Amino acid sequence: MNRMVVLGTGSALPAKVLSNADLEKMVDTSDEWITTRTGIKNRRIAVQGEETSKLATLAAGRALEMAKLSPDEIDMIIVGTITPDMGMPSCACLVQKELGATRAFALDINAACSGFVFCLDVADKYIKADPDMKILVVGAETLSSRVNWEDRNTCVLFGDGAGACLVTGTTEHRGMLASKLFSDGSLYKLLYMDNVPSMNKNLASQDNDGSYIKMAGRDVFKYAVRSMDMAIMNVLDQVQVSVDDIALFIPHQANIRILKSLGERLGIASEKVYINLDKYGNTSAASIPIALDEANREGRINAGDLVLLCAFGGGFTWGATLFRW
Ligand code: UT7
Repeated sequence: MNRMVVLGTGSALPAKVLSNADLEKMVDTSDEWITTRTGIKNRRIAVQGEETSKLATLAAGRALEMAKLSPDEIDMIIVGTITPDMGMPSCACLVQKELGATRAFALDINAACSGFVFCLDVADKYIKADPDMKILVVGAETLSSRVNWEDRNTCVLFGDGAGACLVTGTTEHRGMLASKLFSDGSLYKLLYMDNVPSMNKNLASQDNDGSYIKMAGRDVFKYAVRSMDMAIMNVLDQVQVSVDDIALFIPHQANIRILKSLGERLGIASEKVYINLDKYGNTSAASIPIALDEANREGRINAGDLVLLCAFGGGFTWGATLFRW
């Protein structure tokens, strides 16, 4: 049986750091509130020249380097994003151009913070049909361009960045073992953004056309915990493994309290949960691939390990993915 394996990972983050102390000067908040309610300390903010496609291209280049592949060997590029540079073309087409991945076809997937696990699921279907394909899967966002910097309920939460992985097929007994995706559009008003951004125009000017991200945080929190629990149980059941068999859990990085609640419900030991939200905040579709790349480069993932990914986001969308590394 052919399975999808990861040949390389990469990530890219803007240089500019926005700390809780910086936010204290912008809105009525405190380092103490942000730290205890979210776990976030810093986030990265993109400036002109660090548009979503640029960050995505940097992350993709690093994944290619690790995979020892050249851009013209890529067959397909999938980018999970809700902050493409423009309404058209897709972010993936701009990445294709920037990389010079001339053979690849390219498309975006909008599944908000679940974007990366949705992209992996789609890539897996292509790999099953043609195991020789080399697919670049990216999660990239510049949500700072869609945040209302006067709304303390949301502006302390989000950050910018990109993560990528290069996947292909194998007949070895490893790779992606299970995946399950869910959506519930009936609840979209709890977390939404009304307009498609254009050229991430406020990256330089902090000017925004009014299309801010809007969230009923407390409701989203409850659905996030319940839904990710359900998705995780589904993929574990598919392959008949237990939580104790998981070597590393890489969840979407939205809030430390969500991850603690989830860990307690499922009985996941805290040392098995990869957390970097203190450094980057919630980077939406980029959060899981950035964390995956950091965990990979830190040597936190060994051959044969079971690695569980899980996300929840606007739509609502949610899902989980299980790999044997
Ligand atoms: O990535 C997609 C999924 N997104 C998520 O998973 C996010 C889910 N939600 C959350 O992470 C949390 O709900 C938040 C971090 C957004 C909010 O935490 P909370 O514990 O649910 O707080 P709350 O919204 O219930 O607000 C509690 C209080 C309110 O004051 P009152 O009404 O009790 O007087 C807020 O006005 O905290 C106030 N507050 C703040 N205070 C200081 C809200 N934001 C801030 C702030 N600084 N930045």
